[in-house]
Amino acid sequence: MENLISLVNKLQRACTALGDHGEESALPTLWDSLPSIAVVGGQSSGKSSVLESIVGKDFLPRGSGIVTRRPLVLQLHRIDEGREYAEFMHLPRKRFTDFAAVRKEIADETDRETGRSKQISSVPIYLIVNLTLIDLPGLTKVAVEGQSDSIVQDIENMVRSYIEKPNCIILAISPANQDLATSDAIKISREVDPKGERTFGVLTKIDLMDKGTDAVEFPWIGVVNRSQADINKNTDMIAARRREREYFANTPEYKHLAHRMGSEHLGKILSKHLEQVIKSRIPGLQSLISKTIIDIETELSRLGKPVATDAGGKLYMIMEICRIFDGIFKEHLDGVRPGGDKI
Ligand code: GDP
Ligand code: NA
Ligand code: MG
Repeated sequence: MENLISLVNKLQRACTALGDHGEESALPTLWDSLPSIAVVGGQSSGKSSVLESIVGKDFLPRGSGIVTRRPLVLQLHRIDEGREYAEFMHLPRKRFTDFAAVRKEIADETDRETGRSKQISSVPIYLIVNLTLIDLPGLTKVAVEGQSDSIVQDIENMVRSYIEKPNCIILAISPANQDLATSDAIKISREVDPKGERTFGVLTKIDLMDKGTDAVEFPWIGVVNRSQADINKNTDMIAARRREREYFANTPEYKHLAHRMGSEHLGKILSKHLEQVIKSRIPGLQSLISKTIIDIETELSRLGKPVATDAGGKLYMIMEICRIFDGIFKEHLDGVRPGGDKI
């Protein structure tokens, strides 16, 4: 798993370095086929809280109202000695080991783009932290003061641009204390993934649900995140997890489901799914890279050597990076052969 994640990370970082977040790069298809996980749902449904608990670190700004105002693209990074750190794309080489400082930087970087307002921006923040997670602004129904009239549609378009990518694993977040029939998360997820092949339903705020309403049926995963009061009291992740476990173990309605409820279970399911996706994609990525190398070689010989133009220089660099990828794939492929248990 670690191996796979680090492979994906290397690819993502290289793709991002090559072009603007993959959009205009020469390797858009490569970028698009790498898995990521995005949370979608209404405002304050608990999206940021769920992502945080998957990561197991307190580092995202959370709270009532519109707190997440820019897409946040996270790449989790783990260094060998076991010390974790996070890095932002806009602050290269600065290693954050203090996750409270990460949260502050996200908030400051959001304000730098949008001012201290309720406006949103589609310009993503890239945080390099072993897997790409995407925290998104919440879907809304009406603009509030300080927001433009187009905000409802703007947010929906922004969210869709992430989750419509076939490589995106969707966590559709719905609060258990609201009517599921009106869930924005379900609506937009069904639109982009009608068969539900890459969508996981997450029910947050199970603790706030009316007692006796047994809403959670498979394949939903119910979670209990920290409440606003917990956030105000700085309740840490470890305590929150313990309480969540106790909640499911001791609540009569969920006792029998406790083994498939909660943030830890969600994390496990996601890891398993991700592993399957990555393993199935490696051969395809490898042939894509081989083809890219051939295309670039053809293009280079058409341009003639020595290559002096900018275009030629960039192509040359991309080809070199492709060769490095090819090497990485060969190494990793060894580990994913059936029966091989390297990973
Ligand atoms: P987002 O806007 O969807 O990213 O939601 P946040 O993660 O920022 O959470 C919004 C508010 O709901 C915060 O005050 C959280 O403390 C609260 N919240 C989120 N999940 C839960 C939960 O499972 N139980 C309770 N009681 N509150 C929650
Ligand atoms: Na919120
Ligand atoms: Mg949020």
